[in-house]
Amino acid sequence: MTTQRPIFIAPSILSADFARLGEEVRAIDDAGCDWVHIDVMDGHFVPNITIGPDVVAALRPHSRKIFDVHLMIAPCDPYLEAFAKAGSDIIAIHAEAGPHLDRSLQAIRALGKKAGVSLTPSTPESAIEYVIDKLDLVLVMTVNPGFGGQALIPAQLEKIRRLKMMIGERPIDIQVDGGVNAGNAADVARAGANALVGGSGVFKGGDYAGNIAAMRQSAERACGISI
Ligand code: DX5
Ligand code: ZN
Repeated sequence: MTTQRPIFIAPSILSADFARLGEEVRAIDDAGCDWVHIDVMDGHFVPNITIGPDVVAALRPHSRKIFDVHLMIAPCDPYLEAFAKAGSDIIAIHAEAGPHLDRSLQAIRALGKKAGVSLTPSTPESAIEYVIDKLDLVLVMTVNPGFGGQALIPAQLEKIRRLKMMIGERPIDIQVDGGVNAGNAADVARAGANALVGGSGVFKGGDYAGNIAAMRQSAERACGISI
């Protein structure tokens, strides 16, 4: 039986109104999010292009919540310092983005930031075996990276379960990202995820607070944090 880590709800601003990103960050902050999930895409590692460090810096003054930056870029090393300086708190890089994951994770921590690794659906949990002690977070992609609004790939729940066993009592958050909403928050929490990213699951319909609360309640009930 391992210690239950707190449930964190991290709305992904990829699903926000890009014409009003500052307002949207303030809105999810007011709506009770724990983290702000910022999806950075380069059109090379993934077939989509979003934002860079200057936009992260522009958003920083709009919220004091944790900026959880998900780098879907390759290579990632040349940009780590820029995203750290822009105000990221957590920087998650993809295990598949380059050949030197250990060095990249050390570089993130050397910048004073929390280090995360993200695994695409086809990458096994064994990819983190030899870097586990350089990690603060593992991000399990439950969709193929690049777009919001996709359906969660159920097979990834087994990867979450196996990661939970691998991590044991280490202070490492398991983040789940892609197709997560109030309807499946219990499933991913029961599998072992404690940081839930919600893009369309939070922004769809406009009731950000209601969607965040529903995800949180469902996840907390599933792992016995609340009745
Ligand atoms: C996809 C991104 C996800 C995505 C989540 O590549 O990493 O964070 O924005 O959006 P939903 O929750 O709608 O799948
Ligand atoms: Zn993401």
